[in-house]
Amino acid sequence: MAARKLRTLYRNGTKFARLALGVRSRLPREVQLEITNRCNLDCDMCPRLVLLKVPEIDMSRETLERVLDRFVAAEGQPHSITLTGWGEPLMHKEFFSFVDRIAERLPETDVGFTTNGHLVTKRITEQVLSREAITRINVSLEELPWEDAAAVGPLPVDERTGNPMKGGINYVARDGHPTPPKVVDHLRHMLSERNAKAARGEPAPEIRLQVVLFPDSAETVRRLIDFGAELGFQAINLVRLDVRGRPDLRRPSYEEERELIAMARARAAERGIELGSVNDHNSILRMAAHDDQFCMRLDSYIYVDVEGQVAPCCLLRGHRLGDLKTQSLDEVWTSPAFKRFYGPGPHPACEGCDAFMHRYAHDNATPAVAGSTP
Ligand SMILES: C[S@@+](CC[C@H](N)C(=O)[O-])C[C@H]1O[C@@H](n2cnc3c(N)ncnc32)[C@H](O)[C@@H]1O
Ligand code: SF4
Repeated sequence: MAARKLRTLYRNGTKFARLALGVRSRLPREVQLEITNRCNLDCDMCPRLVLLKVPEIDMSRETLERVLDRFVAAEGQPHSITLTGWGEPLMHKEFFSFVDRIAERLPETDVGFTTNGHLVTKRITEQVLSREAITRINVSLEELPWEDAAAVGPLPVDERTGNPMKGGINYVARDGHPTPPKVVDHLRHMLSERNAKAARGEPAPEIRLQVVLFPDSAETVRRLIDFGAELGFQAINLVRLDVRGRPDLRRPSYEEERELIAMARARAAERGIELGSVNDHNSILRMAAHDDQFCMRLDSYIYVDVEGQVAPCCLLRGHRLGDLKTQSLDEVWTSPAFKRFYGPGPHPACEGCDAFMHRYAHDNATPAVAGSTP
């Protein structure tokens, strides 16, 4: 555990230094593998089908092996591989055997994933917790558990927007993930098993509750923090709502977002749980990111899609800059087209994106292009 913490500290330190100096890493160290775009839910806020029009297929074992060959052949292993694309990773039938294969071939790489939690069962918990390679899990959830939601009261009718592009009105969740009792029970079990393991001094993944911020959601966010603390999550991640897939949807104003984050920080501190937001850069981070001149993501990151094609960001999955089935990692990463993505100033394809920025790039009512953050 101590070794893992030291490794993370070292990796964060080198990332900070790179950002401060405005240089890219020699090879990408943060890798996102789109193992599937199939999903068991269809959240109204999610741009995967209506906007990104992702192919609803899984990565094959053959593609995984080809991609891993490229990483094994490159100098130094990735620091992290996140097994999440525009779908639910646990939908992939071979999810755990993919994790095992990564652990075998890249033993120094931390594996993580983001899940809507709806497929978590006792068996899945057992499988996750028996794998040391899995060090990070984000569980996405915006709606309060139903008994708690009843206490807050139903949403006013005019706020039950639903997604007009999908032709429906959402009466249950407010555009984000719903939280039925079965999901709460399974998450409670997963967290309690995880925390028991950690208490015995055994390696256990960090499990975060990931919450997308909607306007006027202070009370819901406050209760979600309480819920996260009560279940035993290690931290809460607050995520900026990307409205570029939902031109009709409003996100909090920048000022409201600041207030939400400040309130959430205070509540999390009271409840003894860590709070993170990639959009809340402290003064040191703001300096390192040259005041939003350099995207915090692009210095060391690649997105590998279900076919092994490489894009500079999950938000730009159609912007293919290489193919790991036919090219080396070095060839893809050092191509002039890839290098052009790292600041200062946004690449034209990034215009209007503020997913990893401190400030807003555009007024929340006038979104420009497509995308969101898996
Ligand atoms: C696309 S999902 C894929 C993983 C998994 N299905 C899940 O929902 O956690 C990854 C993350 O994107 C977030 N997300 C979806 N739509 C979003 C939006 N419009 N703006 C910001 N984040 C969004 C989800 O809340 C989730 O945390
Ligand atoms: S946010 Fe996640 S769970 Fe919801 S539709 Fe998108 S991929 Fe599926």
